[in-house]
Amino acid sequence: MKTYLFTPGPVPVPEEVLLEMARPIIHHRTAEFEGIFAQVREGLRYIYGTKQEVFILASSGTGAMEAAVSNTLSFRDRVLVINGGKFGERWGKICRAFGLEVEEIMVEWGEAIDPNLVSDSLRKDPSICAVLVQASESSTGVKHPTAELAEITRKREDVILIVDGITAVGVFPLPFDDTCIDVLVGGSQKAFMLPPGLAFAAMSEKAWNFNKKSNLPKFYFDFKNYLKNAKENTTPWTPAITLVIGLALVLRNFKEEGLERTYNRHAKLASATREAMIAIGLEPYAKSSPSPAISAILSPPEIGAGKVISGLKDKFGMTIAGGQDQAKGRIFRISHIGYIDKADTIAVITAVESVLRDLGHRFNLGDGIKKAIDILA
Ligand SMILES: Cc1ncc(COP(=O)(O)O)c(C=O)c1O
Repeated sequence: MKTYLFTPGPVPVPEEVLLEMARPIIHHRTAEFEGIFAQVREGLRYIYGTKQEVFILASSGTGAMEAAVSNTLSFRDRVLVINGGKFGERWGKICRAFGLEVEEIMVEWGEAIDPNLVSDSLRKDPSICAVLVQASESSTGVKHPTAELAEITRKREDVILIVDGITAVGVFPLPFDDTCIDVLVGGSQKAFMLPPGLAFAAMSEKAWNFNKKSNLPKFYFDFKNYLKNAKENTTPWTPAITLVIGLALVLRNFKEEGLERTYNRHAKLASATREAMIAIGLEPYAKSSPSPAISAILSPPEIGAGKVISGLKDKFGMTIAGGQDQAKGRIFRISHIGYIDKADTIAVITAVESVLRDLGHRFNLGDGIKKAIDILA
């Protein structure tokens, strides 16, 4: 059976990128690798929309989240974490692990943060020096209003905005410099269409000012070291050479597609999926602010999400994601990032219809796919 991956990371990787990475390994302290690294630095700046350096770490995304904290903050700093899902919760865990004092705004799962709550918290507690948020909270399929939050923090010299853009960078517009984000984290196994293993991070001038005072322990992820090495087209430690070579090709492809078309691609696949699910009587979990990276859909309660997920796997070889914690068994999640196109999206929607019909959900077979085709056309 042919298999399909519709999870929000890892994602399918284009064959040409797999082949590029299958070539014989080269050494990283060579002119050849430095040439590739120079292209990658340029390509990442383009995707990030920044003049700053975008660091490439050999880790999963969480490594860059940790580095964002350890490179900017200091022991006992007070920080404000937006916690509206598993990854918001992770910001809190990382900050506590480093001895920071964490204030959390708990956001109902499926909802986006109201920026006024952040303004209020900063007004009430002037000692808060960082706000941490997900641009796209993959566990709930919600897009948080990053630009609005940046409007608040950019006016405050003493507050930085640290953004987990792991399912946002390369998915929808989030220009680092223009938005005034202070640290923006990304990951390879998402819109970058690569296997897991690389994480990215950019730092604003304001974040570098924080870095001067930061006393949290850092060694492997010390950005000062990365900055010095990047200028010489290398990394402080052995880079994930194969992935960097794959990244060079992915970034060339991004440039060729053009950012607007890239963003449009995700937006269309997401809206086709969402509208198709609504047309067959299902409800999106993220109602007011869905992320174009991933559609989280409430399964009919009498069926439950587990049966939909296993039905797709058993009958169609398709892997989609379920929910975690309070959303476990209630939602299924279909990703729109990675090497996924219109045909894949039409296939997964059709498969969901087929599985739901077998499970006894009552709807007109074909209503969803008709809606999707209208949007994708
Ligand atoms: C929004 C978000 N943040 C953080 C992570 C964690 O990244 P990783 O699993 O690569 O460490 C993920 C991964 O799924 C994610 O989607």
